[in-house]
Amino acid sequence: MWDERFDTSEYIYGTEPNDFLISVASKIPQGKILCLAEGEGRNGTYLASLGYEVVAVDQSSVGLAKAQKLAQEKQVAIATIHNDLADFVIEPQTWDGIISIFCHLPSDLRAKVYGQAVMGLKPNGVFILEAFAPKQLQYNTGGPKNIDMLPAITTLQQELVGLQWEITMDIERELLEGRFHAGKAAVIQLFGRK
Ligand SMILES: C[S@@+](CC[C@H](N)C(=O)[O-])C[C@H]1O[C@@H](n2cnc3c(N)ncnc32)[C@H](O)[C@@H]1O
Repeated sequence: MWDERFDTSEYIYGTEPNDFLISVASKIPQGKILCLAEGEGRNGTYLASLGYEVVAVDQSSVGLAKAQKLAQEKQVAIATIHNDLADFVIEPQTWDGIISIFCHLPSDLRAKVYGQAVMGLKPNGVFILEAFAPKQLQYNTGGPKNIDMLPAITTLQQELVGLQWEITMDIERELLEGRFHAGKAAVIQLFGRK
């Protein structure tokens, strides 16, 4: 599904980074960042342009090829790993930041990945998430239609136990991120530190 969706010269989520990521980027310690479900590379290339060492993982080879093209255009380097998060192992105590922007997974897989993410952060490392909230089912502005993939903030906090929360927002905002994320949306924004 994702390979098909990304198989166009257009960057379907745009080439500009996510707004929430921009707003918290200055709080990320310098070092190694893992971008989960990075897609076409808008967020990883932004972080690379700020001097971070970025590794981006996604199951879509088409998306990651576009991410590398965007990196070339922006004259930055990112490492890409083509893998399903079901098979990818997040190395413990390795990352200064882990980014999860609109990475919607089935609940059993999400719990596994986020458990590993907490273990994968170094002390003081940060976890940054923006995702559609359960209320997004009422809007036609993007995201999965399956409630299992739209966790409430309390569920996410349970899955990410071990972090200190600096930002926990459950809000409605205007999204302008390419043609698949456009209009009023219900989103969760989290910024946690280990
Ligand atoms: C809505 S896009 C978001 C892409 C990117 N994070 C962004 O904000 O532009 C969702 C991404 O999740 C990826 N994805 C979904 N399920 C995945 C899985 N099980 N393993 C790895 N990537 C996955 C898709 O390939 C796609 O790139």
